Amino acid sequence: MSTTILEPNPAAFTGNDAKFVADFATLCTFGATANGGVHRLAGTAADSEQRAWLTRLLERHGFRVEFDRIGNQFGLLELVPGAPYVLVGSHLDSQPTAGRYDGAYGVLAAAHAAIRVADHCENGTSKPKYNLAVVNWFNEEGARFKPSMMGSSVYTGKLALEDALATADSAGTTVEEALKSVGSLGTGDGPEAAYCAEIHIEQGRSMEREGITIGVVDSNWAANKYQLVVHGEQAHTGSTIIADRKDALLGASLLVVAAREIADRFPGVLHTSVGQLDVYPNSPVVVPSKVTLLLDLRSADEEVLAQADQLLHDRLAEIENLANVSVEKGSSHCWPVTPYQPEGVELAEKIAVDLGLAYGRVKTLAGHDSTNMKDIVPTVMLFVPSVEGISHNEHEYTRDEDIVAGLHMLTAVVQRLCAG
Ligand code: GLV
Ligand code: MN
Ligand code: MN
Ligand code: MN
Repeated sequence: MSTTILEPNPAAFTGNDAKFVADFATLCTFGATANGGVHRLAGTAADSEQRAWLTRLLERHGFRVEFDRIGNQFGLLELVPGAPYVLVGSHLDSQPTAGRYDGAYGVLAAAHAAIRVADHCENGTSKPKYNLAVVNWFNEEGARFKPSMMGSSVYTGKLALEDALATADSAGTTVEEALKSVGSLGTGDGPEAAYCAEIHIEQGRSMEREGITIGVVDSNWAANKYQLVVHGEQAHTGSTIIADRKDALLGASLLVVAAREIADRFPGVLHTSVGQLDVYPNSPVVVPSKVTLLLDLRSADEEVLAQADQLLHDRLAEIENLANVSVEKGSSHCWPVTPYQPEGVELAEKIAVDLGLAYGRVKTLAGHDSTNMKDIVPTVMLFVPSVEGISHNEHEYTRDEDIVAGLHMLTAVVQRLCAG
């Protein structure tokens, strides 16, 4: 990996663009790691300090900030009393030792875009039909509390509020307790949305390869994520003969390999992975009695995903037999392939032409809060390029000129949506 992280350089820009780049540099300091990344798990002190900073920024520009019952943070600006809102935002939480751009760029760009649109409405250059809401969705990453995209899933009615609030992290702290402890637990259900917009880094390398600055997302890959629990029996690693062992970690390891073998059956069109293993008791000289793992299967082709699912299911019985364990299926988090509304895609393309930005249609392979929102309101999802496609990594990087071009694009989109 050759990417060197360059510090955001406001001096290369003027006016409000320079302010945006300077604010982005400030944002990178919350939960900063020694290697140039960030570590800002949902509902922790670093997450809440950054939320407080966002509140101050928005309040300085006349927005009223409130939290809903799952800790989504909204900056509300009423331009047309009683009208629904154009929701624009992303998420500030991160994976462990993550990059600076995933989520945070989209929230800051949303705040600056909304501030600019509000100025245009105030000075009469734009006439609003809808109100403006900047949103920082709670727990998009799902790193501390599962599932991912928790805040937008509750907002869109895909996940019950009570289930989300009762979800505990590995230390037993629930979402409700975490939100209370950082002062992010609100009382309402958030504003009513008319439209939604989100900008994000691509997290892949297709845009870089094609030399485009703006990706207009026209659909998403489907995902099936499973929590699997492998049950074995705790034993002595030295004295227990191999034939007597019920090694949960061996079973889990076979599942890791099976996931990769299934992906290899569908080259390029299926991505599979195991991202987390919890081994119990995880001690030297002990054959593990239990391993929990999170396995995900993703494809743009639901037929391929169904076949992969079946292959995984077939492999479970074989692995149980081989490792002398049992595999229990725990919770799952799945979403289908659905298109982003064509009107939003066409609007974004027209704006990219007007702004003279090189653009193209892209698919999102990762889940985003907009993946949820597009199922309830017309939604525009935009990408800016990721250098070398690196993401969920401290070396994640997007050039300053691209984050600024993305901000210009998002501002124009929000202005059009707000004008109705
Ligand atoms: C979440 O971002 C996912 O893609 O799973
Ligand atoms: Mn993200
Ligand atoms: Mn992410
Ligand atoms: Mn994501």
